[in-house]
Amino acid sequence: MQTTTQAKTILITGATAGIGLAAAQSLLHQGARLVITGRDQERLNHVVTMLGGNVIPMLCDSANIEHIQQMASQLQQDNIKLDGLILNAGVFYPAPFEQMTVDNFNTTMAINFSGPVFTLQSLLPCLNNPSSVVFISTVAVQKAFSAAGVYSASKAAFEGFARVLNLELAVRNIRINSIRPGVTATEIQSKAGMDDATISDFFESLSSTPVGRVLTPSDIIPAINYLVSDASMGLRNAYIDIDGGFGL
Ligand SMILES: NC(=O)c1ccc[n+]([C@@H]2O[C@H](COP(=O)([O-])OP(=O)(O)OC[C@H]3O[C@@H](n4cnc5c(N)ncnc54)[C@H](OP(=O)(O)O)[C@@H]3O)[C@@H](O)[C@H]2O)c1
Repeated sequence: MQTTTQAKTILITGATAGIGLAAAQSLLHQGARLVITGRDQERLNHVVTMLGGNVIPMLCDSANIEHIQQMASQLQQDNIKLDGLILNAGVFYPAPFEQMTVDNFNTTMAINFSGPVFTLQSLLPCLNNPSSVVFISTVAVQKAFSAAGVYSASKAAFEGFARVLNLELAVRNIRINSIRPGVTATEIQSKAGMDDATISDFFESLSSTPVGRVLTPSDIIPAINYLVSDASMGLRNAYIDIDGGFGL
């Protein structure tokens, strides 16, 4: 299967860490030109230096619609057309339902749901015909985790939206597919408030899954490469589960 992404221009949201950063490294290695977003200017500068050339950084908080619209205007002004859009920026702030606050709910929905929706809408004028949108969803849309209610709902909400958009945007030859990672070792666990010992025990517990270990971003990247490449042209609204069998 041909999965080259050479000479494509691809925007990755939240590429300053984890899966997004690994995707950026892989796509650059294949010869793609990238636009990457982050919400922290210093982190963004550091990552751009680390990645080297052919990367356009955009300070864009996914929870901030003005940032998203400014980014889209800037790209149009610079006449940058995109062949791929990886909607990766996301957060996991677990909270048991009884303790869940309005702030937790709104923040999660803003970053994980409204952000991707308005990023895609704002970037429509920049998307080539054809182009591929890849949504980084989660195994949590189909497997229940305690304290992950709003996280699960935020990802499921975008998946529901994407089903409709695959119809509405077909005329522009825009396809949207999702990847549902299982537990993947990134910063997301510490940002979720877990300390080192808890993270270590959590990862250890995954030895009982069919794959027998925690996943790493390198487990997820081949599917991202496939979805942004022309090899996935026939896919619409697919969900690729990369969870090492955790969801079985
Ligand atoms: N790791 C897992 O176990 C797992 C499992 C299933 C799904 N996922 C999904 O995979 C995606 C990537 O997560 P990850 O594990 O790679 O986590 P990560 O290491 O924390 O990376 C998340 C990236 O998104 C950025 N980001 C977060 N909020 C943002 C915002 N408001 N605006 C712009 N950028 C923002 C982060 O920036 P900062 O560096 O500034 O925080 C970072 O670059 C997420 O959508 C997550 O839900 C992860």
